[in-house]
Amino acid sequence: MARVPFVDLKIQYESIRDEIEESIHQVIDQTVFSGGPFVSQFEKELATFCGCEHCIGVGSGTEALWLALCSLGVTQGDEVITVPNTFIATAEAISFCGAQPVFVDVDERTYNMDPTLLEAVITPKTKAIIPVHLFGQMVDMDPIMEIARNHSLFVIEDACQAHGAEYKGKRAGSIGDVGCFSFYPGKNLGAYGEAGAVVTNNPEWANRIRMVRDHGQKSKYYHSVIGWNARMDGIQAAILSVKLRHLPQWNAARQRNAQRYNTLFKGMKEVMTPSEAKYAKHVYHLYVLRVKNRDHLIASLSEEGIYCGIHYPVAVHLQEAYRFLDLNEGSYPVTEQCSKEFISLPMFPELTDEQIKCVVDGVKRHTLQEG
Ligand SMILES: Cc1ncc(COP(=O)(O)O)c(C=O)c1O
Repeated sequence: MARVPFVDLKIQYESIRDEIEESIHQVIDQTVFSGGPFVSQFEKELATFCGCEHCIGVGSGTEALWLALCSLGVTQGDEVITVPNTFIATAEAISFCGAQPVFVDVDERTYNMDPTLLEAVITPKTKAIIPVHLFGQMVDMDPIMEIARNHSLFVIEDACQAHGAEYKGKRAGSIGDVGCFSFYPGKNLGAYGEAGAVVTNNPEWANRIRMVRDHGQKSKYYHSVIGWNARMDGIQAAILSVKLRHLPQWNAARQRNAQRYNTLFKGMKEVMTPSEAKYAKHVYHLYVLRVKNRDHLIASLSEEGIYCGIHYPVAVHLQEAYRFLDLNEGSYPVTEQCSKEFISLPMFPELTDEQIKCVVDGVKRHTLQEG
């Protein structure tokens, strides 16, 4: 039995059980399982939440990224700039369009794309930039948007970990040309299965993404372009509508929990706590420390029933799948160092003070012993 689980989806479900069961019942009662009114309703709600004109519900965050890229015309021979400090899906979406991922390293404190490195990797083949709002904190978007505009590049925000995060008062997904979300169950806004969404203010791209997610059809069985089945499912949309109403208070609880962790770690020089950039409202999808004795610490905590994670143990450019890019160790030193030192502590809205104290005591005990 976990004393402190890494995430606890059950406890959240218990707090909204009646609303969730009612929403599922409605979908079944109306037998609108694929696309349909619950998907349209959720799309409207998420667009409003993000401050965007359009939202297209799809099957996953990976699909959202891939559809966004395809619909912007990214194709064979193009290059798309992103970071190696991300979940592999960001790079996979680029590869699945036939394009080549080109990486830049991340900032030492925010662990997000370092905009000062962008100009040096832009070539005539560069088509787009994908900044990734990792762990719940948005990338420094102003310099990225400026560089993109100067070079006529698209910006696709990977907001898969940043539901409700803000940059200078603007919500994740609303600054670039297109924003992509994942509703994988453990996300700040998580479905009870797989789901994702694309948001944009451009009606032309919205129509194209809407068409491509549904076999390229404008009307039933009239297919204008070659598309795919990337539709969102009705039950997931209904559940997400319920959960979106709770998201602001859940994000606030995550921020409170992060502050509690920060307070309890204060003065402990063996751990580097997350830093919040001045421009950002961080929503702590993950609370990530840097420590020197990471593997020992994870193993020791797990023996005591305290479960942590690593996001991510191997940088994307060093994954076997991307060996063909021929990017060796040393190519992106900040990302590589972080992948050896990152430890994600338990983080979810319902985490109690006692659980947080238990985690911090465990980290102190094992870190100081090791040192
Ligand atoms: C940064 C990032 N990008 C993309 C994805 C892909 O989303 P999904 O798992 O819904 O396909 C994830 C999900 O974990 C993610 O964290």
